[in-house]
Amino acid sequence: MCGIVGAVAQRNITPILVEGLKRLEYRGYDSCGVALHLDGKLQRSRSTSRVADLEKQINEGGLNGFTGIAHTRWATHGAPASHNAHPHFSPSEAAARIALVHNGIIENHDELRAELTALGYVFTSQTDTEVIAHLVDHMYNGDLFDTVQHAVKRLHGAYAIAVFCREEPHRVVAARQGSPLIVGIGQGENFVASDAMALAGTTDQIIYLEEGDVVDLQLGRTWIVDVDGKQVNREVKTVHAHTGAAELGPYRHFMQKEIFEQPRVVGDTLEGVTGVMPELFGDGAYKVFREIDRVLILACGTSYYAGLTAKYWIESIAKVPVSVEIASEYRYRDSVPNPKTLVVTISQSGETADTIAALKHARSLGMEHTLTICNVSTSAMVRECKLSYITRAGVEVGVASTKAFTTQLSALFLLTLSLAQVNGLLTEEQESAHLKAMRHLPSAIAAVLALEPQIIAWAEEFARKENALFLGRGMHYPIALEGALKLKEISYIHAEAYPAGELKHGPLALVTDEMPVVTIAPNDALLEKLKSNMQEVRARGGQLYVFADVDSRITSGDGVHVIRLPEHYGQLSPILHVVALQLLAYHTALARGTDVDKPRNLAKSVTVE
Ligand code: M6R
Repeated sequence: MCGIVGAVAQRNITPILVEGLKRLEYRGYDSCGVALHLDGKLQRSRSTSRVADLEKQINEGGLNGFTGIAHTRWATHGAPASHNAHPHFSPSEAAARIALVHNGIIENHDELRAELTALGYVFTSQTDTEVIAHLVDHMYNGDLFDTVQHAVKRLHGAYAIAVFCREEPHRVVAARQGSPLIVGIGQGENFVASDAMALAGTTDQIIYLEEGDVVDLQLGRTWIVDVDGKQVNREVKTVHAHTGAAELGPYRHFMQKEIFEQPRVVGDTLEGVTGVMPELFGDGAYKVFREIDRVLILACGTSYYAGLTAKYWIESIAKVPVSVEIASEYRYRDSVPNPKTLVVTISQSGETADTIAALKHARSLGMEHTLTICNVSTSAMVRECKLSYITRAGVEVGVASTKAFTTQLSALFLLTLSLAQVNGLLTEEQESAHLKAMRHLPSAIAAVLALEPQIIAWAEEFARKENALFLGRGMHYPIALEGALKLKEISYIHAEAYPAGELKHGPLALVTDEMPVVTIAPNDALLEKLKSNMQEVRARGGQLYVFADVDSRITSGDGVHVIRLPEHYGQLSPILHVVALQLLAYHTALARGTDVDKPRNLAKSVTVE
């Protein structure tokens, strides 16, 4: 999703801005641009292609400068086109005085646009961002910092902005409300970015701006005011951000690489866990786990499905009632709060706008016990929650989440055991049996990965389909949901998941001999029930593609294709089955020739609501 980088220095900053954009690329974008202060003029370069093409364009045009801003855009208002790409200029291209980039959504942009149009401003884009550029230009009083403080008071919605002005060549002003923004402190030079990762290699001295902050960046000087205009000192932290997207190595796509990294990253996530103890989730976790009598999980997308799986685990093993809510729904609905709730957010990026807003909403309702399962230790989510467990998936580049999901599940299983322990429901024998099973996960996942050749054969058949159904029961129903999401997200095949028992209540009407039905069939207490559901499919001519366990006693036959997972890992079985579904989605997409790592219309980190 959108990304910002800006700099004020006494050297040419073009390479820093371009490198920053490259580091933000993995988040997904459809256009990009750079603006620089050059010889008393503002110059810019924008592209609807990749950052590498923008870089070529910049080099060919000889664009350089000491002060500037850059942006990757993920379209919300206006199509992905060059005239909508940031930076936006005001009052016009020829007479540019203000250059501005923006992440977020301005809700009152229509009203502001009408007002500025009446004042004579001519809009050249359909974006809400151009409104802010013209507003700043209109309100400009000779002091950009003061102007921006006044201008942002007119904005409703979420924003992180960075802006500079032709009249003040050594100054960038930035502000945030609802979208993340950080400041990077260098030696006599200063930076701003939407993510510390954008500045990796440039500076590790980072300030996390707070809601409502406005910052003045000059050479060797930063000045921050809070929402009330009061000067504030924000802590400078040393942040060792990941140094950007990893190398592909022998893999064709990051998604494939990330699927194959799972044995290692699940191991890393559980490394050092020698016993079950609440303190793994932070100081004071024991007291919190004792106090709470229910769990509320808030998340989006794949992370939501991790939460749904955890509900089965927590209610069955720790006997604590769990509700799992889609963050974008929870934040806007009336719910019944209970202060004895442990609010758990799950997020790969830790920056998902809906999840952060849902967390804040829960807190505003008096639920103060917060915990996040998150992959980015420097993210807003980790900073907002009292307790945390950092998954160690490493940078996930593919838009389709894979290794983040299995590491989230590993952490959630650990949470389940900790809650059970605090509730006196985990004997020492049970604890050591669970830990043994968890330690075995890396090799059990590796055994599933070895099924790739068989899964490729299925994928070639799937690639010719336009619809698919996924069935699971119990804790494998969320895995069916995740399998369907993976398939639709990267192959663009319409896929839906159902709890198998629900089939006869409607979706069975869709089943013909053209409909592939993926069935997750572990050898658990529900297997016999599932077999009846499979009969219902076969009786209507549906083609069954069954991921069975080694001992599920399901055999291949007419219209029934079976791949056996080599090991069954009881409660941890969802972590194994999902890996097979990831491979199916990946190879189907590969056979269809889609852009696997950057599927159309999607962004890696969804920082707008
Ligand atoms: O970073 P988060 O885990 O909060 O992201 C949540 C979803 O946007 C994400 O899981 C999305 O559904 C993935 N693209 C799914 O593969």
